[in-house]
Amino acid sequence: MARRAAVLAVSVALLASSVLTACSTQAPASGTDGSGRGDSDGKITLGFAQVGAESGWRTANTKSVQESAEKAGITLKFSDAQQKQENQIKAIRTFIQQKVDVIAFSPVVESGWDTVLREAKDAGIPVVLTDRAVDTKDPSLYKSFLGSDFVKEGRSAGEWLTAEYAKENGPVNIVELQGTTGSAPANDRKAGFAEVIKGDDKFKIVASQSGDFTRAKGKEVMQAFLKSHKDIDVLYAHNDDMALGAIQAIEAAGKKPGEDIKVISIDGIKDAFVAMNQGKINVVVECNPLLGDQLMDLVKKVAAGENVPTRVEVEEGVFTQDQAAEALPSRKY
Ligand code: AHR
Repeated sequence: MARRAAVLAVSVALLASSVLTACSTQAPASGTDGSGRGDSDGKITLGFAQVGAESGWRTANTKSVQESAEKAGITLKFSDAQQKQENQIKAIRTFIQQKVDVIAFSPVVESGWDTVLREAKDAGIPVVLTDRAVDTKDPSLYKSFLGSDFVKEGRSAGEWLTAEYAKENGPVNIVELQGTTGSAPANDRKAGFAEVIKGDDKFKIVASQSGDFTRAKGKEVMQAFLKSHKDIDVLYAHNDDMALGAIQAIEAAGKKPGEDIKVISIDGIKDAFVAMNQGKINVVVECNPLLGDQLMDLVKKVAAGENVPTRVEVEEGVFTQDQAAEALPSRKY
């Protein structure tokens, strides 16, 4: 059965790019121990509860997980929660009933997971968090987190802004398009950005609202910002899709995105690089969705009861307009 299968070599890349803060051990819980777990063909079964399909980033992340599972010979049970926590909780409970070997999920929001995570733990099913973290006082409820440092991403956005306006007196009026309310990337990107700009009171966030990480909402909220604030200097969008929606609203209002209103975005999807190349986005802070291979390595390890790092962070960069044309052909998502 899956959990007794020999552990395959874990990629050196995972270790190289990881930040090891602590280790946890998972006792093997094989299907042959009477649990009935695992595929009859001996493959590891992974239950994956995805957030939804809200953005280009998410589409690339889903593809990466699906392709990597196939490549790794892991049976994937995939569920799309359509950005609703209750759907994710339902999916996780179904995976527990199905006695999958490992559960992985990207939590829509940060809080409210302890009960279902305890159910998984009681059933002996290890959980790996990917992309987004949970807010819990009990770190034994999951084995590992694989994803980005969202606070650092917010700080990078703020650092670009403070450098850009270093020689100006201000005020610099900023509107902020937040991601999904209560989600880790929305909370952390807001916090990291605020931490950097708070040192200089010429930076003023004049409006801040959620655009739910979608293009349509980004456009709608930006239209409202433009109506209520005539003097917007900067848009800080927590992801590219909202920035791209907002650019449509800025153009419809007769202004030039990238010039009249500077645009700062996060993710680094191809469409954003195209917009940056056209001068419509000024800077993109990268957030890497291609986590599939690293996730499958972790899944194999926890299924085999091996030690895994409790936090694995991915390497990410910052791209400005002058780098966009050169970087565009090699963007993988
Ligand atoms: O959790 C990662 C975020 O979720 C991405 O920045 C965003 O595009 C997605 O919807």
